[in-house]
Amino acid sequence: MNYIGSKKSLLEFLEQSIYKVVGKRDFIFLDLFAGTGVVGQHFKSKGHKIIANDLQYYSFVLNKNYIENHKILKFLGLEDELSELKSYSYKERASFICKFLDNLELTEGFIYNNYCLGGTKSKKNQRQYFSDKNGKKVDTIRKKIENWKEESKINDNEYYFLLTTLIENIDKVANTASVYGAFLKQLKKSAQKDFVMQPANFILNDKEHSVFNEDIEELVSTVKGDVLYLDPPYNQRQYAPNYHLLETIAKYDNPKIKGKTGLRDYSNQKSKFSQKKEVLQSFENIIQKANVKYIFLSYNNEGLMTEEEVRTIMSKRGEYGVFKKKYNRFKADKSDNRNHKASSVIEYLHYVKCE
Ligand SMILES: C[S@@+](CC[C@H](N)C(=O)[O-])C[C@H]1O[C@@H](n2cnc3c(N)ncnc32)[C@H](O)[C@@H]1O
Repeated sequence: MNYIGSKKSLLEFLEQSIYKVVGKRDFIFLDLFAGTGVVGQHFKSKGHKIIANDLQYYSFVLNKNYIENHKILKFLGLEDELSELKSYSYKERASFICKFLDNLELTEGFIYNNYCLGGTKSKKNQRQYFSDKNGKKVDTIRKKIENWKEESKINDNEYYFLLTTLIENIDKVANTASVYGAFLKQLKKSAQKDFVMQPANFILNDKEHSVFNEDIEELVSTVKGDVLYLDPPYNQRQYAPNYHLLETIAKYDNPKIKGKTGLRDYSNQKSKFSQKKEVLQSFENIIQKANVKYIFLSYNNEGLMTEEEVRTIMSKRGEYGVFKKKYNRFKADKSDNRNHKASSVIEYLHYVKCE
Protein backbone atom coordinates (compact mmCIF):
# COMPACT_ATOMS: atom_id res chain seq x y z
CA MET A 1 0.00 0.00 0.00
CA ASN A 2 1.20 3.50 -0.86
CA TYR A 3 1.22 4.97 2.66
CA ILE A 4 2.40 8.33 4.02
CA GLY A 5 5.67 7.75 5.85
CA SER A 6 5.98 4.11 4.72
CA LYS A 7 9.43 2.69 5.38
CA LYS A 8 9.21 0.17 2.56
CA SER A 9 12.17 1.66 0.74
CA LEU A 10 14.22 2.10 3.92
CA LEU A 11 14.12 -1.47 5.21
CA GLU A 12 17.77 -2.24 4.38
CA PHE A 13 18.89 0.96 6.09
CA LEU A 14 16.81 0.14 9.18
CA GLU A 15 17.97 -3.47 9.33
CA GLN A 16 21.65 -2.65 8.93
CA SER A 17 21.56 0.21 11.43
CA ILE A 18 19.61 -1.73 14.05
CA TYR A 19 21.80 -4.83 13.75
CA LYS A 20 24.89 -2.63 13.99
CA VAL A 21 23.76 -1.31 17.38
CA VAL A 22 21.99 -4.36 18.83
CA GLY A 23 23.82 -7.26 17.16
CA LYS A 24 22.14 -9.98 15.13
CA ARG A 25 20.62 -11.87 18.05
CA ASP A 26 17.20 -13.17 18.92
CA PHE A 27 15.46 -9.99 20.14
CA ILE A 28 11.82 -9.03 20.58
CA PHE A 29 10.95 -6.18 18.25
CA LEU A 30 8.23 -3.64 19.14
CA ASP A 31 6.76 -1.68 16.20
CA LEU A 32 4.30 0.59 17.99
CA PHE A 33 3.48 3.05 15.18
CA ALA A 34 3.13 0.16 12.77
CA GLY A 35 1.14 1.66 9.83
CA THR A 36 1.24 -0.88 6.98
CA GLY A 37 3.28 -3.27 9.13
CA VAL A 38 6.10 -3.41 6.62
CA VAL A 39 8.86 -2.88 9.21
CA GLY A 40 7.49 -5.49 11.60
CA GLN A 41 7.11 -7.91 8.69
CA HIS A 42 10.72 -7.40 7.72
CA PHE A 43 11.95 -8.24 11.22
CA LYS A 44 9.45 -11.10 11.43
CA SER A 45 11.05 -12.51 8.28
CA LYS A 46 14.42 -12.41 10.07
CA GLY A 47 13.00 -14.65 12.82
CA HIS A 48 12.17 -12.08 15.51
CA LYS A 49 9.07 -12.06 17.69
CA ILE A 50 7.06 -8.92 16.92
CA ILE A 51 4.67 -6.78 18.93
CA ALA A 52 2.86 -4.27 16.73
CA ASN A 53 0.40 -1.45 17.42
CA ASP A 54 -1.35 1.44 15.72
CA LEU A 55 -4.08 3.93 16.57
CA GLN A 56 -5.90 3.31 13.29
CA TYR A 57 -8.15 0.27 13.05
CA TYR A 58 -7.32 -0.51 9.38
CA SER A 59 -3.66 -0.66 10.39
CA PHE A 60 -4.53 -2.99 13.26
CA VAL A 61 -6.30 -5.24 10.73
CA LEU A 62 -3.30 -5.27 8.38
CA ASN A 63 -0.94 -6.08 11.23
CA LYS A 64 -3.23 -8.78 12.62
CA ASN A 65 -2.74 -10.48 9.27
CA TYR A 66 0.85 -9.65 8.32
CA ILE A 67 2.31 -9.95 11.83
CA GLU A 68 0.09 -12.14 13.97
CA ASN A 69 -0.89 -14.71 11.34
CA HIS A 70 1.90 -17.26 11.08
CA LYS A 71 0.22 -20.58 10.34
CA ILE A 72 -1.60 -21.79 7.20
CA LEU A 73 -5.29 -20.92 7.35
CA LYS A 74 -7.50 -23.98 6.93
CA PHE A 75 -11.00 -22.44 6.79
CA LEU A 76 -12.48 -25.62 8.32
CA GLY A 77 -15.65 -23.78 9.37
CA LEU A 78 -16.57 -23.07 5.74
CA GLU A 79 -16.49 -26.70 4.62
CA ASP A 80 -20.26 -27.09 4.99
CA GLU A 81 -21.21 -23.88 3.19
CA LEU A 82 -18.65 -24.35 0.43
CA SER A 83 -18.76 -28.09 -0.23
CA GLU A 84 -16.00 -27.93 -2.88
CA LEU A 85 -13.56 -26.59 -0.29
CA LYS A 86 -12.79 -30.08 1.03
CA SER A 87 -11.24 -31.07 -2.27
CA TYR A 88 -8.63 -28.32 -1.95
CA SER A 89 -5.40 -28.70 0.02
CA TYR A 90 -5.02 -26.32 3.00
CA LYS A 91 -2.48 -24.32 0.99
CA GLU A 92 -4.97 -23.68 -1.83
CA ARG A 93 -7.95 -22.77 0.31
CA ALA A 94 -7.33 -19.03 0.83
CA SER A 95 -7.18 -18.57 -2.90
CA PHE A 96 -10.36 -20.59 -3.48
CA ILE A 97 -12.25 -18.50 -0.91
CA CYS A 98 -11.05 -15.24 -2.42
CA LYS A 99 -12.32 -16.43 -5.82
CA PHE A 100 -15.66 -17.33 -4.25
CA LEU A 101 -15.91 -13.80 -2.79
CA ASP A 102 -15.00 -12.30 -6.16
CA ASN A 103 -18.00 -13.99 -7.72
CA LEU A 104 -20.79 -13.12 -5.27
CA GLU A 105 -23.86 -11.40 -6.64
CA LEU A 106 -23.39 -7.67 -6.06
CA THR A 107 -25.46 -5.77 -3.49
CA GLU A 108 -25.51 -2.14 -2.38
CA GLY A 109 -24.34 -0.98 1.04
CA PHE A 110 -22.71 1.86 2.98
CA ILE A 111 -19.78 2.38 0.62
CA TYR A 112 -21.84 2.39 -2.58
CA ASN A 113 -24.52 4.59 -1.01
CA ASN A 114 -22.08 7.21 0.28
CA TYR A 115 -18.90 7.11 -1.78
CA CYS A 116 -19.89 6.17 -5.35
CA LEU A 117 -21.52 8.32 -8.01
CA GLY A 118 -24.45 5.94 -8.47
CA GLY A 119 -25.27 5.96 -4.78
CA THR A 120 -24.83 9.70 -4.20
CA LYS A 121 -26.14 11.26 -7.42
CA SER A 122 -29.39 12.44 -5.86
CA LYS A 123 -27.74 13.59 -2.61
CA LYS A 124 -26.31 16.96 -1.58
CA ASN A 125 -22.73 15.74 -1.77
CA GLN A 126 -21.89 13.61 -4.77
CA ARG A 127 -18.80 11.50 -4.32
CA GLN A 128 -16.73 9.22 -6.51
CA TYR A 129 -14.10 7.45 -4.44
CA PHE A 130 -14.77 4.19 -6.29
CA SER A 131 -16.50 3.07 -9.48
CA ASP A 132 -20.10 1.95 -8.84
CA LYS A 133 -19.16 -1.66 -9.44
CA ASN A 134 -16.18 -1.59 -7.07
CA GLY A 135 -18.31 0.16 -4.43
CA LYS A 136 -20.97 -2.56 -4.61
CA LYS A 137 -18.32 -5.24 -4.64
CA VAL A 138 -16.61 -3.96 -1.51
CA ASP A 139 -20.00 -3.80 0.26
CA THR A 140 -20.92 -7.31 -0.85
CA ILE A 141 -17.64 -8.88 0.24
CA ARG A 142 -17.40 -6.88 3.48
CA LYS A 143 -20.90 -8.01 4.52
CA LYS A 144 -20.14 -11.64 3.68
CA ILE A 145 -16.93 -11.62 5.76
CA GLU A 146 -18.82 -10.16 8.74
CA ASN A 147 -21.59 -12.66 8.31
CA TRP A 148 -19.12 -15.58 8.39
CA LYS A 149 -17.54 -14.10 11.51
CA GLU A 150 -20.90 -13.65 13.26
CA GLU A 151 -21.88 -17.23 12.46
CA SER A 152 -18.47 -18.44 13.76
CA LYS A 153 -17.67 -19.97 10.38
CA ILE A 154 -14.27 -18.25 10.30
CA ASN A 155 -11.87 -17.64 13.19
CA ASP A 156 -10.05 -14.38 13.98
CA ASN A 157 -6.99 -15.29 11.90
CA GLU A 158 -9.15 -16.00 8.87
CA TYR A 159 -11.25 -12.87 9.48
CA TYR A 160 -8.25 -10.52 9.54
CA PHE A 161 -6.70 -12.24 6.54
CA LEU A 162 -9.88 -11.67 4.49
CA LEU A 163 -10.25 -8.07 5.67
CA THR A 164 -6.60 -7.35 4.81
CA THR A 165 -7.11 -8.86 1.37
CA LEU A 166 -10.15 -6.63 0.85
CA ILE A 167 -8.41 -3.45 2.10
CA GLU A 168 -5.26 -3.99 0.03
CA ASN A 169 -7.16 -4.68 -3.17
CA ILE A 170 -9.80 -1.96 -2.90
CA ASP A 171 -7.02 0.54 -2.15
CA LYS A 172 -5.50 -0.21 -5.58
CA VAL A 173 -8.66 1.02 -7.35
CA ALA A 174 -9.39 4.11 -5.25
CA ASN A 175 -10.14 7.19 -7.34
CA THR A 176 -7.74 9.46 -5.46
CA ALA A 177 -4.42 11.18 -6.13
CA SER A 178 -2.93 9.01 -3.39
CA VAL A 179 -4.68 9.51 -0.04
CA TYR A 180 -8.39 9.70 0.83
CA GLY A 181 -8.44 13.39 1.79
CA ALA A 182 -10.10 14.06 -1.60
CA PHE A 183 -11.37 12.14 -4.62
CA LEU A 184 -10.81 12.90 -8.31
CA LYS A 185 -13.60 14.34 -10.47
CA GLN A 186 -13.12 11.80 -13.27
CA LEU A 187 -12.56 8.10 -12.70
CA LYS A 188 -8.86 7.60 -13.33
CA LYS A 189 -7.69 4.61 -15.35
CA SER A 190 -6.73 2.40 -12.43
CA ALA A 191 -10.07 3.18 -10.71
CA GLN A 192 -12.01 1.97 -13.75
CA LYS A 193 -10.63 -1.55 -13.31
CA ASP A 194 -12.64 -4.05 -11.26
CA PHE A 195 -10.67 -5.07 -8.21
CA VAL A 196 -9.99 -8.73 -7.53
CA MET A 197 -9.36 -10.43 -4.20
CA GLN A 198 -5.69 -11.22 -4.72
CA PRO A 199 -4.91 -13.07 -1.44
CA ALA A 200 -2.76 -11.12 1.02
CA ASN A 201 0.51 -12.78 2.02
CA PHE A 202 1.88 -13.37 5.44
CA ILE A 203 5.05 -15.00 6.70
CA LEU A 204 4.75 -18.51 8.12
CA ASN A 205 6.87 -19.23 11.19
CA ASP A 206 6.67 -20.75 14.65
CA LYS A 207 6.75 -17.59 16.78
CA GLU A 208 3.70 -16.08 18.48
CA HIS A 209 3.30 -12.34 17.78
CA SER A 210 0.83 -9.82 19.12
CA VAL A 211 -0.94 -6.75 17.79
CA PHE A 212 -2.71 -3.86 19.54
CA ASN A 213 -4.98 -0.99 18.53
CA GLU A 214 -4.17 1.60 21.18
CA ASP A 215 -2.65 4.98 21.72
CA ILE A 216 1.04 4.27 22.23
CA GLU A 217 1.12 6.47 25.32
CA GLU A 218 -1.31 4.11 27.02
CA LEU A 219 0.32 0.94 25.73
CA VAL A 220 4.04 1.52 26.00
CA SER A 221 4.45 0.82 29.72
CA THR A 222 2.41 -2.40 29.50
CA VAL A 223 4.47 -4.21 26.83
CA LYS A 224 8.00 -5.53 27.17
CA GLY A 225 10.67 -6.28 24.62
CA ASP A 226 14.26 -5.62 23.60
CA VAL A 227 14.06 -3.17 20.71
CA LEU A 228 11.42 -0.46 20.52
CA TYR A 229 11.08 1.02 17.04
CA LEU A 230 9.20 4.32 16.82
CA ASP A 231 7.96 5.67 13.50
CA PRO A 232 5.48 8.41 14.45
CA PRO A 233 3.89 10.99 12.13
CA TYR A 234 6.42 13.73 11.41
CA ASN A 235 4.13 16.67 10.68
CA GLN A 236 0.60 18.13 11.10
CA ARG A 237 -1.02 15.74 8.64
CA GLN A 238 -3.21 13.40 10.67
CA TYR A 239 -3.57 9.86 9.38
CA ALA A 240 -7.27 9.49 10.30
CA PRO A 241 -8.70 11.95 7.70
CA ASN A 242 -6.22 10.83 5.06
CA TYR A 243 -7.29 7.19 5.31
CA HIS A 244 -10.91 7.56 6.49
CA LEU A 245 -12.31 5.28 3.79
CA LEU A 246 -10.01 2.42 4.80
CA GLU A 247 -11.06 2.93 8.42
CA THR A 248 -14.74 2.73 7.47
CA ILE A 249 -14.28 -0.35 5.28
CA ALA A 250 -12.29 -2.03 8.07
CA LYS A 251 -14.83 -1.17 10.79
CA TYR A 252 -17.95 -1.18 8.60
CA ASP A 253 -19.78 0.55 11.41
CA ASN A 254 -22.15 2.88 9.48
CA PRO A 255 -20.57 6.02 10.91
CA LYS A 256 -22.06 9.50 10.77
CA ILE A 257 -20.18 11.22 7.98
CA LYS A 258 -20.00 14.80 6.82
CA GLY A 259 -18.85 17.25 4.19
CA LYS A 260 -17.69 16.93 0.61
CA THR A 261 -15.49 13.94 1.34
CA GLY A 262 -17.82 12.11 3.75
CA LEU A 263 -15.39 12.24 6.65
CA ARG A 264 -16.09 10.20 9.77
CA ASP A 265 -15.50 11.67 13.23
CA TYR A 266 -11.88 11.14 14.31
CA SER A 267 -11.72 13.20 17.48
CA ASN A 268 -10.45 10.16 19.44
CA GLN A 269 -7.77 9.36 16.87
CA LYS A 270 -5.91 12.65 16.72
CA SER A 271 -2.22 11.99 17.12
CA LYS A 272 -0.22 14.21 19.45
CA PHE A 273 2.72 13.66 17.11
CA SER A 274 0.91 15.85 14.60
CA GLN A 275 0.46 18.71 17.07
CA LYS A 276 3.35 21.06 17.75
CA LYS A 277 2.12 21.89 21.26
CA GLU A 278 1.80 18.25 22.31
CA VAL A 279 4.55 16.36 20.55
CA LEU A 280 7.54 16.92 22.87
CA GLN A 281 5.66 16.01 26.03
CA SER A 282 4.20 12.91 24.44
CA PHE A 283 7.54 11.81 23.01
CA GLU A 284 9.31 12.28 26.34
CA ASN A 285 6.58 10.35 28.10
CA ILE A 286 7.01 7.39 25.74
CA ILE A 287 10.79 7.38 25.98
CA GLN A 288 10.62 7.45 29.77
CA LYS A 289 7.99 4.71 30.09
CA ALA A 290 9.40 2.17 27.60
CA ASN A 291 10.42 -1.24 29.07
CA VAL A 292 13.14 -2.03 26.55
CA LYS A 293 16.91 -2.16 26.07
CA TYR A 294 17.11 -0.08 22.90
CA ILE A 295 14.91 2.60 21.38
CA PHE A 296 15.10 3.64 17.72
CA LEU A 297 13.23 6.59 16.23
CA SER A 298 12.69 7.25 12.53
CA TYR A 299 12.25 10.96 11.88
CA ASN A 300 13.35 13.49 9.27
CA ASN A 301 14.77 16.99 9.04
CA GLU A 302 11.33 18.53 8.37
CA GLY A 303 9.54 17.05 11.39
CA LEU A 304 7.86 18.99 14.22
CA MET A 305 10.68 18.05 16.63
CA THR A 306 14.20 19.26 15.89
CA GLU A 307 17.21 16.96 15.83
CA GLU A 308 18.44 18.67 18.99
CA GLU A 309 15.13 18.19 20.84
CA VAL A 310 15.10 14.49 19.96
CA ARG A 311 18.69 14.04 21.11
CA THR A 312 18.05 15.81 24.43
CA ILE A 313 15.02 13.67 25.23
CA MET A 314 16.53 10.34 24.17
CA SER A 315 19.87 10.97 25.88
CA LYS A 316 18.07 10.98 29.23
CA ARG A 317 17.76 7.17 28.93
CA GLY A 318 21.42 6.41 28.07
CA GLU A 319 24.02 6.48 25.29
CA TYR A 320 22.59 8.23 22.21
CA GLY A 321 23.52 7.94 18.52
CA VAL A 322 22.07 8.66 15.06
CA PHE A 323 22.24 7.26 11.50
CA LYS A 324 21.34 9.50 8.53
CA LYS A 325 20.22 8.80 4.98
CA LYS A 326 19.06 10.93 2.05
CA TYR A 327 15.57 9.85 1.02
CA ASN A 328 13.13 10.71 -1.81
CA ARG A 329 9.96 12.44 -0.72
CA PHE A 330 6.59 10.59 -0.58
CA LYS A 331 4.76 10.96 -3.91
CA ALA A 332 1.65 12.62 -2.46
CA ASP A 333 3.70 15.39 -0.92
CA LYS A 334 5.10 16.35 -4.32
CA SER A 335 1.76 16.37 -6.15
CA ASP A 336 -0.06 18.05 -3.29
CA ASN A 337 1.83 21.27 -3.94
CA ARG A 338 2.58 21.66 -0.26
CA ASN A 339 5.34 24.19 -0.77
CA HIS A 340 8.11 21.69 -0.33
CA LYS A 341 11.17 22.95 -2.12
CA ALA A 342 13.46 19.97 -1.70
CA SER A 343 12.63 16.74 -3.56
CA SER A 344 14.57 14.76 -0.98
CA VAL A 345 14.79 14.87 2.77
CA ILE A 346 17.24 13.53 5.31
CA GLU A 347 15.91 10.52 7.13
CA TYR A 348 17.28 10.07 10.63
CA LEU A 349 17.39 6.94 12.71
CA HIS A 350 18.04 8.14 16.26
CA TYR A 351 18.76 5.56 18.92
CA VAL A 352 19.51 5.18 22.58
CA LYS A 353 20.95 2.22 24.49
CA CYS A 354 18.84 2.34 27.64
CA GLU A 355 20.66 2.15 30.97
C1 LIG B 1 4.86 7.16 9.74
S1 LIG B 1 3.44 6.13 9.95
C2 LIG B 1 4.16 4.55 10.21
C3 LIG B 1 4.57 3.92 8.93
C4 LIG B 1 5.04 2.48 9.06
N1 LIG B 1 6.32 2.38 9.69
C5 LIG B 1 5.11 1.87 7.68
O1 LIG B 1 6.21 1.70 7.13
O2 LIG B 1 4.03 1.58 7.12
C6 LIG B 1 2.85 6.59 11.53
C7 LIG B 1 1.73 5.73 12.10
O3 LIG B 1 1.53 6.09 13.46
C8 LIG B 1 0.17 5.96 13.79
N2 LIG B 1 -0.05 6.77 15.01
C9 LIG B 1 -0.08 8.11 15.13
N3 LIG B 1 -0.22 8.47 16.43
C10 LIG B 1 -0.27 7.32 17.16
C11 LIG B 1 -0.39 7.04 18.53
N4 LIG B 1 -0.51 8.02 19.41
N5 LIG B 1 -0.40 5.75 18.95
C12 LIG B 1 -0.30 4.75 18.03
N6 LIG B 1 -0.18 4.97 16.69
C13 LIG B 1 -0.16 6.23 16.26
C14 LIG B 1 -0.55 6.43 12.54
O4 LIG B 1 -1.85 5.91 12.48
C15 LIG B 1 0.38 5.90 11.42
O5 LIG B 1 -0.07 4.65 10.95
